[in-house]
Order: sequence, then structure tokens, then C-alpha cells
Amino acid sequence: MLDQNVANADSKHIAEELYKKNLELAEVNKSLALLRKIDEIVLSSVIDIKSVAHQVTDAVVSEAGFKAVYILLKDNKNRLLVPLAVSLNKSLSQIDSDLLRAIYSLKVPFTDESNIIIQAINDQKMQRTDNMFAIFKSYLTEGVCKKIQDIARIKYFHIYPLIIRDEAIGAFIISPKEESAPYFAYQENLIERLPGVISIAIDNTLLYQNIERTNIRLKELDILKDEFVSIASHELRTPLTAIKSYIWMTLNKSTDLNPQVKSYLEIAASEIEHLIKLVQNMLTISRIESQRLELTLENIDLYELVKQVFDTLKIKADEKQQTFILVPYPEKLLVSADKDKLTEVFENIIGNALKYTPDRGKITIHFSTGKDKTRIHITDTGPGISSDNQTKIFQKFGRLEEAKHNRTPGTGLGLYISKQITDLHKGSINVESELGKGSTFTVTLPMV
Ligand SMILES: Nc1ncnc2c1ncn2[C@@H]1O[C@H](COP(=O)(O)OP(=O)(O)O)[C@@H](O)[C@H]1O
Ligand SMILES: [Mg+2]
Repeated sequence: MLDQNVANADSKHIAEELYKKNLELAEVNKSLALLRKIDEIVLSSVIDIKSVAHQVTDAVVSEAGFKAVYILLKDNKNRLLVPLAVSLNKSLSQIDSDLLRAIYSLKVPFTDESNIIIQAINDQKMQRTDNMFAIFKSYLTEGVCKKIQDIARIKYFHIYPLIIRDEAIGAFIISPKEESAPYFAYQENLIERLPGVISIAIDNTLLYQNIERTNIRLKELDILKDEFVSIASHELRTPLTAIKSYIWMTLNKSTDLNPQVKSYLEIAASEIEHLIKLVQNMLTISRIESQRLELTLENIDLYELVKQVFDTLKIKADEKQQTFILVPYPEKLLVSADKDKLTEVFENIIGNALKYTPDRGKITIHFSTGKDKTRIHITDTGPGISSDNQTKIFQKFGRLEEAKHNRTPGTGLGLYISKQITDLHKGSINVESELGKGSTFTVTLPMV
């Protein structure tokens, strides 16, 4: 009989233990589900900090059954602690609406050191109170606080500072649900983890907002820069052209120019030419970058276009005693292109070949065709370009050290602009080159 009793007591004990363990497990599961939910909220919407904070406090109240949850942030300008989000359990809905409004609009001056939230923030330490009045001092009377606590059966408030990189940015207040075993330990554990998770959520959101703002500002600055370059180039062009004309008039119309003065004027003329080209290039680049560079397309014979460039540059090749050859192409090479812009491309690439190839070198231009494509190859016996530098030359201001060193005039914008113009024509530019041997630039364009 006695044995039977012992056995009964044992099995009752085991059943109780099992029941308790089950409750504990359910509690752990809830905690995990809540943390996962907060993770999801933070990952899904980082745009608006108020909405993120609201979703988090709502989840803490509805998923894990806490009585009240507050997130307060420091408003450093007004030196006030202001609510970012507040969520209250259903049990608080019986409270008078004026009181509820007071609860929702709690604001605490930084200077109010008698307030327990300010203490938690200043000491960067968690505080716990069973007296709601310690939080709502300047808002509600002690009697009203007691009444609210009784109606909602709130026993405790845990007040945590929210800390990001050693700085308290606000506070997190949470009222636990009924504080009896076995919930207690798990609830404490969850409560302790929440401030960290919430701090990170707020930090992420603030950083994201900051990046967004900076991004918008950078875009505005970029537009301003474009406008500045565009206006500056326009304004520079007119006086530069005038100076150029006067220099030329002086050079060409004066009969009694002293040779020294003449040589100075010639240098000035060539420098002005260089400056005008630079200003024109900057104007083109500002158009390219603000997508205002438009093509006026017409069907043109590519051979004819290249031949014209060849004819104008022939004088320069002659000056350097270079062999300059254009290999004729027997058929028409029709492309749909903007004549002036494409002329600029070839003036630059063929001009480069002449410019960078030493005296008595050789520059050959020939054509080839592929499937719906035509190619123009410009081969020179110049210094060549190392493979490392072959991408650099197509970048803005991509002049190589050699070019700078030899004081060859140039801006480093020609190939960048040429590539952009060719891209607009749905074509491409490639370079094949070996140091010391020379280079071949190939422009490929779709045929009509
Ligand atoms: N045919 C070439 N041979 C050797 N180097 C070249 C050749 N074409 C271009 N480069 C190099 O590429 C750089 C960029 O060319 P480009 O954009 O036309 O600028 P720029 O001619 O004004 O210097 C040049 O400064 C030069 O260093
Ligand atoms: Mg050039």
C-alpha cells in the first residue's frame, strides 16, 4: 500500500515536471519566435525609423504578451527624451482616454534627474521599479499611477538604456507579464536580450537614413557640378574665341612683326587652341554625363568620313615626315551616324596616332567588314601601350606618364569622349598594342 502511494506520488511528480517543462519549452519557443520576427522587421523595412520601432514594440506586446513597451529616443536639439514607439496590452484599454494620451505622450527633459529613465540613461545601467510614478512624475499624480497599475495589473517596469557605440541614445521600458514560475527565468532572459536587438535595429535604420540623405545630397552636388562645368565652359568659350581671333589677326595682318614677338604670339595661339579644345571637351563631357548628348543620325559612307579626317590631318603627318596611308575600300560602307561626332572620334584616334608616333614613323588606316559590322583599324609604329594601361587610356583624364613626360599636348579626355560617342552609336573601340612596337586602335560600328 505504501509502495503504491510512493509510486502514485512519483508519477504525479513526473507529470508535474513534464507539464512544467512543456510550459518552459513553449515559453522558449515564443521568445525565439519574437526575436526572429524582430529580425524580419529590421531586415524588411529600414526606411522609416518610427515605423520600424512601432512594428517592434507591437510584436513584443502581441507575440510575447508583455504589458507595456516603450522606446524613447533622445531629442538632442530640444534636450528631451521623446517616445518613438509605444505599445500597450489590451488590459490597458480600460483606462480613461485622457490618461492614455498622457501615457503615449510622455516627454522627459534631460535635466530631470529625479526621473528613473534619465537615471538609467545617465548611469548606462538598467533600472527596475514597481512604482509607475518614478517614470511619469511630471505627467501623472502618484494616485493615478497606482490606479493604472491596479487596473492593468502591472507590477514592474524594467528600464534599459539603449546604447550604440558606448553612447546612450534613448531608453527601452518594458512591463513583464505575470511574474510567477516557470515563466520568470525565460521572460527575464528575453527582456535582457531585447534592448540590444532594438539598439541595433535603431542604429541600422539611422545609418540607412543617413546614407540616404548623404546620397541625395551627393546627387544634388553632382547636378550642381554639371551645371557649373556647363556654364563655365559656355562662358569661357566666347572670350577664348575672341582672343584667338585677335592673335591670328595680329599674326597675319601685321607686316612689321619682330621675329621674337611673332614667335611669342605663335606660342600664345597654340596655347589658346589647346584651351579651346579643353573647354569644348569639358562641355561634351558635361553633356555626356547628364545624358544630354544627342545624336543627329544620317546614313553616311564611313570611308568618305575617314578620308576627310585623313585629308585634314595629312599636313601634320607631313610636318613630322611620317608615312601616312589610307588603304582604299572598294565598296560603300554605310553606317547610321552623327557625322560631326563621329568625325571627332576619328580626329582624336588618328590624331593620337600621329601625335604619339615619333618623326618618320608610319600610320596606316584600313577597313574590314564582318557580319553587319564594319571595322576601321588605325595602326601606328609609336611607343605602344602596356596592357595595364590599355583600360586607363579610356578613362577621364587618362593620360599616361609617358605622354606627360614628353610634354605632348593633350587633355586626356579624347579617348574617353570617343568611347562614349562610339557607345552611343552601338559600336566599340579596342586597342591592341605592345610596348616599343606600336598600337592598333580598332573602331567597330554596326552597318546599315
Ligand atoms: N596611338 C597611341 N600611342 C601611344 N599612346 C597613346 C596613343 N593614343 C593614346 N595614347 C595614350 O592615351 C592617353 C589618352 O589619350 P586621349 O584620351 O586621346 O588624351 P590626349 O591625347 O589628350 O592625351 C594619351 O595621353 C596617351 O598617353
Ligand atoms: Mg587625344
